[in-house]
Amino acid sequence: MAKIRHLMTPSPYSIGVEQPLAEAARRMRAHHIRHLPALRGGQLEGLISERDIALVGSLPSVGLEAITVEEAMSPAPYSVNSDTEIATVVKEMATHKYGSVVVVDEGNVVGIVTTTDCLGMLWDHLTRDGQDTSALRPSAVRRRISEEHVVLRSIIDQIEELARQVIAGEKDALTALRIETRDLYERLRAHIDVEDQILGPALRQTVGFGKEREEQLLSHHAEQREQLTTELAELDNVEGPPLAERIVTFIGDVRDDMSREDRDLLNPQLLKDDPIDVGFGG
Ligand SMILES: [Fe+2]
Ligand SMILES: [Fe+2]
Repeated sequence: MAKIRHLMTPSPYSIGVEQPLAEAARRMRAHHIRHLPALRGGQLEGLISERDIALVGSLPSVGLEAITVEEAMSPAPYSVNSDTEIATVVKEMATHKYGSVVVVDEGNVVGIVTTTDCLGMLWDHLTRDGQDTSALRPSAVRRRISEEHVVLRSIIDQIEELARQVIAGEKDALTALRIETRDLYERLRAHIDVEDQILGPALRQTVGFGKEREEQLLSHHAEQREQLTTELAELDNVEGPPLAERIVTFIGDVRDDMSREDRDLLNPQLLKDDPIDVGFGG
């Protein structure tokens, strides 16, 4: 069985527990990561996530320079040694909803594994050896995409709340708004990729939709990718309330688009496994 050392990102970056949150945020941005093990005297003490920082940043009149990592981190994070079976770790992560696991050998942090790494492994598994994801049944595609829409909607709700705070003049919410929005835009890119890969083929193979509907979906997604690139660039160029207004407009469009997809494409009456099932049986 595969060991966690084969899945982990080795020697991740870390941060001292006494460092300010602003430094943790800088390190995450610089290295495009979302979690940092927090160390005291080289020993693992906690885990600080982008989300923890965003949460503190969203509190009115709290500065990220004034709060230490220790005050915002999750103490005693889930950790395993590098010889642990991947299956054991994934089961623990799923059962307890852990977003990540720190890999520690002989007291030293040697790696980190996040849910994103696990999803990557799942994706490889689904697509390897001719096990073509385009062969997923339409009902499975519908469930998968609908689930992603539910998650995206709840993130959009949170971002709207942050944007409202910024518009209301709460300057401290701006950092969290930027972090969460960047995270959302990256998730949206991944979502569009998944739709291209599994929803496109499902539409093509469904009697009521066909190849043209797939092409329409792909070209709409190409436009959305360009918009996302623009919006990601504007995140760093626009400040304060105008940025918040811009985000509200864009995520409103995204929400409308998901509703249209739910109604027009993910409708169980339309995207169905077998036309023969319609109207028969229970
Ligand atoms: Fe889409
Ligand atoms: Fe979608």
